[in-house]
Amino acid sequence: MLWMGENLVTLPQFYTVQDLRAQVATWHAQGLKVALTPTMGALHAGHLSLVEEGFRRADRVIATIFVNPTQFGPGEDFDRYPRQEQADADLLASASCSGLYRPSVAEMYAPGFCTSITVAGLSQDLCGVFRPTHFSGVATVVTKLLLQALPDVALFGEKDYQQLTVIRRTVKDLDIPVEIIGVPTLREADGLALSSRNRYLTSAERAIAPLMFQTLTEAGHAFASGQNAQNVCATATAKLLTGGFSAVDYVAIRDAETLESIEQWAGKPGRILGAAKLGAARLIDNIPILGRNSG
Ligand code: PAJ
Repeated sequence: MLWMGENLVTLPQFYTVQDLRAQVATWHAQGLKVALTPTMGALHAGHLSLVEEGFRRADRVIATIFVNPTQFGPGEDFDRYPRQEQADADLLASASCSGLYRPSVAEMYAPGFCTSITVAGLSQDLCGVFRPTHFSGVATVVTKLLLQALPDVALFGEKDYQQLTVIRRTVKDLDIPVEIIGVPTLREADGLALSSRNRYLTSAERAIAPLMFQTLTEAGHAFASGQNAQNVCATATAKLLTGGFSAVDYVAIRDAETLESIEQWAGKPGRILGAAKLGAARLIDNIPILGRNSG
């Protein structure tokens, strides 16, 4: 519950598949369109931009919060991933979100659970090289969330571009009847993409972090002006390392739809993606490659 001026704003919360489905079915029976915005909580303005976009596409928006254990690898930050239940509920209420689905691990993964979804190729590429089980965990939980809620539309951030591509592929391949919408990345004034994990940065690291966006932006321009991908990515990697990142997992230039490699600018939509370590954080970011005439 949250007081906004004179008004008490309430956020209905659902903990079981049964209660969630009953609510969505009621809205559908009333002729209302329903959007879903899956998250892991520790919400920030980027998440809220998905809720806002949901309201442009549908009459009701349900957010989900589930810190999904199966998408974290051994030694990753599952245990220390920020959890802030009340602050998240207040933020969603202030965004007039229609409901919050917050299943327990037992609700999501019943005893004996043993099914998983892997998008061959795509799951093992880019971040998948460094996090080999991550995208199976994501594809499986997102498929479950979509089938649990049965929304008309679901929104995902371009911030996690490979994740968005994996989800689009899963939904297409499995004929899940939902429209997937990608939402542009919300950034701080200095270009750093908002992320729940930015809080792992010390203030010195926070000052270095915008270099990721700056480097990708410069690299995108260099590629669009005719340099080949390999040289552009090598230059960008060197720049990140010189600027204070401790390791660069990759900088890559890919087809924006399939994420296949592209060597030379041919005017087709492209994407430049990067992942690099900075202190205790691993930052990922990506931007569209815009040609001289496209923006
Ligand atoms: P989470 O990291 O909480 O992100 C939830 C959604 O918010 C994702 O679609 C993500 O791309 C989007 N998002 C994050 N930062 C953003 C930003 N700065 N601008 C716009 N959108 C942003 O991604 C996940 O959770 C999980 O993998 C999930 C899909 C929920 C499956 O567990």
